[in-house]
Amino acid sequence: MYAVTMLRERRSIRSFKEDAVDRETMNTIIDNASYYPSWANFQIARFNVVEDPETRKKLAEEGMFGPNVKTTGKAPGVLVISYVKGQNGTLPGQEGYVTTKGATWDMFDAGAASQNFCLAAYEQGVGTVIMGLFDEDKVARIINLPEDETVAAVIPYGYEVKHPKAAPRKPMDEISRYI
Ligand SMILES: Cc1cc2nc3c(=O)[nH]c(=O)nc-3n(C[C@H](O)[C@H](O)[C@H](O)COP(=O)(O)O)c2cc1C
Repeated sequence: MYAVTMLRERRSIRSFKEDAVDRETMNTIIDNASYYPSWANFQIARFNVVEDPETRKKLAEEGMFGPNVKTTGKAPGVLVISYVKGQNGTLPGQEGYVTTKGATWDMFDAGAASQNFCLAAYEQGVGTVIMGLFDEDKVARIINLPEDETVAAVIPYGYEVKHPKAAPRKPMDEISRYI
């Protein structure tokens, strides 16, 4: 698929077919997604594929907020994007954070990894939705996340039922400027 087509036509998908996405397809998606750009190529993002139905149920019912409970509960698979803490924003041989943005580069990389995952999934015909409305401590506990990591985003995924139309985008003169 052409890159520009993927950029324009990827949509957030909130209803899925029941069919699971097999491991071979997931491995292809994650391998492709791993080419996201990262701070000093530290590659701090981790792709946690939650396959186990009991864990997914718990994650949906106890970890997610509002409408995300239902959407996550009905998805045949859930990806949790986490990242290894304490690396981004630093450079080897230098003390502390090297920019005024401190550790916020963590979430920057997690965002790049998340978007790459969604685009790589779309290329394989798999729909995704990035979710931010969840309890990060509960999600971490439910999936037994390692202590040195934290949760960045929850991304339910599965084969699309139907492809929604894009929500309108803000006009170019609002979102861009030339200096
Ligand atoms: C950081 C972030 C958090 C989001 N959180 C949620 C969420 O909790 N639940 C949800 O259904 N969609 C969530 N979305 C999806 C957005 O609503 C969606 O991307 C936006 O409406 C544009 O639609 P599109 O992705 O189809 O282009 C989130 C997206 C981002 C990037």
